[in-house]
Amino acid sequence: MPAAKKTAAKKTAAKKTVAKKAAKVSRTDAIALLTADHKRVKKMFKQFDKMKEDGASADKQALAQQICAELTLHAEVEEQIFYPATREAIDDDDMLNEAEVEHASAKDLIAQIESGDPSDPLWDAKVTVLGEYIDHHVEEEEGEMFRKARKAKMDLEALGQQIAAMKQSRDGAQQMTPPPAPKQAAKKSGKASADARL
Ligand SMILES: [Fe+2]
Ligand SMILES: [Fe+2]
Repeated sequence: MPAAKKTAAKKTAAKKTVAKKAAKVSRTDAIALLTADHKRVKKMFKQFDKMKEDGASADKQALAQQICAELTLHAEVEEQIFYPATREAIDDDDMLNEAEVEHASAKDLIAQIESGDPSDPLWDAKVTVLGEYIDHHVEEEEGEMFRKARKAKMDLEALGQQIAAMKQSRDGAQQMTPPPAPKQAAKKSGKASADARL
């Protein structure tokens, strides 16, 4: 075979291998869905960072509430679906325990942000610290837990379907929920409601 043809054949083979590898990692498996959540929240934290200095309080509060709602639902699907399945499939309870403790700390901050007032000088800092905290947590999940879960041959497609179904049911419930109560009432119920959802 002439050299040019050989190179072309090699290139086609390489393309096929890449396509095969891409097909193996489905966009709807549990890890793909959780990673997409991570990216979305990271973007929102960046957006918050940009509006921190001169953004209107109402806009900052709306974005922070959105971040908190995303994270709350994300933690819920991880704790109820992904973490238990991973705990069973891989022998690393320490890693899973640490992840759950990190969720608990994040929930504390989320409750403080949800019930807090953007005019409070510490409120912006709480959102920033939550972002840093989540960055660290995501690094550990993506760098260690997800890697181990992929190797463990878990049924990530089935878990992905469970995650999507739970998210859909929560989204539907949220749409049916009446608009948030006035600030005073939200302040009182902030922690309790965050805990109930997590
Ligand atoms: Fe997590
Ligand atoms: Fe996560």
